[in-house]
Amino acid sequence: MCGIVGYIGRKEAKPILLNGLSRLEYRGYDSAGIATIESDKIVTIKSLGRVSDLEKATGMDAIKGTLGIGHTRWATHGKPSKENSHPHMDNSNSFAVVHNGIIENYANLKDFLINNGYTFISQTDTEVIPNLIHFHYSQSNETGNKKFIKAVTDTCNMLKGSYALEILANDFPDNMIVVRKDSPLVIGKGQDEKYISSDIPAILSFTKDFYLLNDNEFAFMSRDNIEFFDKGLRPIQKQAQNITWNAGAAEKEGFEDFMLKEIHEQSKSIRETIGSRIQENSLSSLPDLEMTKEYLESVNKIFIIACGTAMHAGYVGKTLIESLCNIPVEVEAASEFRYRNPIINDKTLCLFISQSGETADTIAALKLARFKGARTIAVSNVIGSSISREADYTLYTHAGPEIAVASTKAYTAQIVLLAIIAIHCAEILGINQEKVQELRNDILLLPSQIEEVLKNTNDIKAFAQRVYKEEDMFFIGRGVDYAVALEGSLKLKEISYIHSEAYPSGELKHGPIALIENDVTVISVLTDRLLTEKAISNIQEVVTRGAKTFIVTNQELNHSFDTVINIPKTNVLISPILSVIPLQLLAYYISKEKGLDVDKPRNLAKSVTVE
Ligand code: M6R
Repeated sequence: MCGIVGYIGRKEAKPILLNGLSRLEYRGYDSAGIATIESDKIVTIKSLGRVSDLEKATGMDAIKGTLGIGHTRWATHGKPSKENSHPHMDNSNSFAVVHNGIIENYANLKDFLINNGYTFISQTDTEVIPNLIHFHYSQSNETGNKKFIKAVTDTCNMLKGSYALEILANDFPDNMIVVRKDSPLVIGKGQDEKYISSDIPAILSFTKDFYLLNDNEFAFMSRDNIEFFDKGLRPIQKQAQNITWNAGAAEKEGFEDFMLKEIHEQSKSIRETIGSRIQENSLSSLPDLEMTKEYLESVNKIFIIACGTAMHAGYVGKTLIESLCNIPVEVEAASEFRYRNPIINDKTLCLFISQSGETADTIAALKLARFKGARTIAVSNVIGSSISREADYTLYTHAGPEIAVASTKAYTAQIVLLAIIAIHCAEILGINQEKVQELRNDILLLPSQIEEVLKNTNDIKAFAQRVYKEEDMFFIGRGVDYAVALEGSLKLKEISYIHSEAYPSGELKHGPIALIENDVTVISVLTDRLLTEKAISNIQEVVTRGAKTFIVTNQELNHSFDTVINIPKTNVLISPILSVIPLQLLAYYISKEKGLDVDKPRNLAKSVTVE
């Protein structure tokens, strides 16, 4: 889960690399490094810590080259240290490599290289790559560019695992090779220049035209040319795609943190995700999803598979699809699904949700489902991401780039898209038309209701100030409110490092209530009219035991509770889109009170591209 960036063109590479790396720091921030070509020779500079430390590293002032690669690391093999930082070089200092991913067979490859006289200075899996390139290069009978290209493809043919690589060579001071397999990499196209990155937002301020590489595709670049080929060296034709995100979307735009900005963007991201898919007085439109009535009637099970927050959106999706389409839905963590033997056949529909579209477990689960004959739908926020290329159909959330590690606007956009999918399938099936009609209308009200929720933050801030020193909290809810409780609890853990647990309210009595004592904080979500009385009884039970409560509700409560955050009324099936916002803000304000780095919480990376 590292970030890589590259530049080849006529401008100085250093500021572009450092800028790109600082934008990619959400992917890892244990160490950082760059390599550029200075007077036809590779020069590397690395530093432990963040990109801001790298900027001050010795030798940085002298870097002037117009071609370079950079890396920000999330340590997997080998502790965070300067030696383990990328770029890595081969023994003869002829090749420099940055790598995002994991080389699973690196130990065997290392033995192979040691037997051939190579030595190693780091504990990383990556260091085998430049040395293997050197090995193949020195044995090669090829000449010219092909010698470099062939050494790289021969190397990649020996690698098992995942990798996005950028490679420089002393003998080719005007070229760079990049390749990807199961790790993200995009190439931005400029005028006589190319920008390479692990994600689009990091280089969005330079270009909006991108080449998207598929697995096992290579690019050999010079300043004014780019050639694509596969691992058998067969040429590939590729067109750059224009990405409509605006550059400002990857900036804080006056907000203190990306997370706060992204929380506040939810009205816009919901509006854009709805787009023309739902309109007043007409049926939904999802042209990218080709489903017939016959096919949907044949589906006897839907799996929703995802990780983390995306999985929590999946729990809401389950209720939506079951209520509107009458098809049983199971939600599963991709990391579990991929290693068991799920019962899947051509009557199974599998829906994969991933903001980044690059989560390793989700991709592996998707491949398994396809292998077993299921039809697959990807829900992703990133155009051209890996899951979008693997799935039969892809539907995009239009949340814009999400930079903060803690997901907020992607979650609510995923739920609204799941609601639209459920509506669309119910329309095709011709069932539950009244419910569908109501939900369509309620969806259209969401953007203005979100703005309303975001106007009332004072009570949330005040509660955060009261509780930020606590060590444990509890979240409770029933039905979709329980799904939101899970998400609120995850947000709190991620960015405030406070231990929290989420329980279905009715489960409290079966054990967890033993933990409720004087002054413990219990956060409750209550939006289902039919379950209000039961939920209130559960809250009373904890209040009686001395708990202080924070309740997010759109119901009239005939009892006085500690802090009550009122949100607008909506259809219970989509209420999580509104009820989660106070929980996102609560986690945010608690983290700020504690003086933590909200956007880059410890140990976490934005997209988990390794297992
Ligand atoms: O990119 P994805 O949606 O596949 O990411 C899944 C999870 O890693 C992600 O939601 C994670 O749980 C976030 N840090 C939650 O805030």
